[in-house]
Amino acid sequence: MKRIVILISGRGSNMEALVRACAAQAWPARIEAVLSNRPDAPGLAFASRVGIATAVVDHRAHGSREAFDAALEQAVQAFRPDLVVLAGFMRVLGPAFVARFAGRLLNVHPSLLPAFPGLHTHRRALEAGCHVTGATVHLVTAELDCGPIVIQSAVPVRPGDDEQALAQRVLATEHVIYPLAVRWFVEGALDVSGGRVRHRAGEPQWYFG
Ligand code: GAR
Repeated sequence: MKRIVILISGRGSNMEALVRACAAQAWPARIEAVLSNRPDAPGLAFASRVGIATAVVDHRAHGSREAFDAALEQAVQAFRPDLVVLAGFMRVLGPAFVARFAGRLLNVHPSLLPAFPGLHTHRRALEAGCHVTGATVHLVTAELDCGPIVIQSAVPVRPGDDEQALAQRVLATEHVIYPLAVRWFVEGALDVSGGRVRHRAGEPQWYFG
């Protein structure tokens, strides 16, 4: 059984999708803990309700980014994870943390990376006049919103879409591709080489939402 730790900062709908898929599809994995950098993250209540351990490492209680990262690393490591999953975790993690969990640290980002790393992705996609946007699940490397891509969803931008409408449709696809990516990881179905991720059996690494 692979041990998974999920990091959140807020709502936690991706975390919830992962928890449900793990149970429903009987992954060879267990979600050991959900950690948040915000004590008031709504997602913590769901995790507690379904009997998953929760912990908070409040970034405001640490004097520097490095001190926060070190405290988070310790809290995560206490659960001895095989995989650490960032699910709406809104703090940038420093190189020491990333190195500690290299190769077993996944993130979901609401754009078709490498387009629009960082914040306000939907607003920026609309401003740029994109006709297609989406979401990306990737292995985390030291550079922000970068790293080998596991799977992407493509979502059409419809006339009249605003930031919220687009965010909602992209999020619905995140709930499909993130559980798929994490399942592939825990099943050992992914090959990573030369900065690319390939599903060993050739499963499509895209999804049209
Ligand atoms: C998701 O859309 C996720 O892609 C995004 O935050 C949202 C979290 O929602 N993450 C990032 O922007 C990270 N760069 P959730 O808390 O309901 O899962």
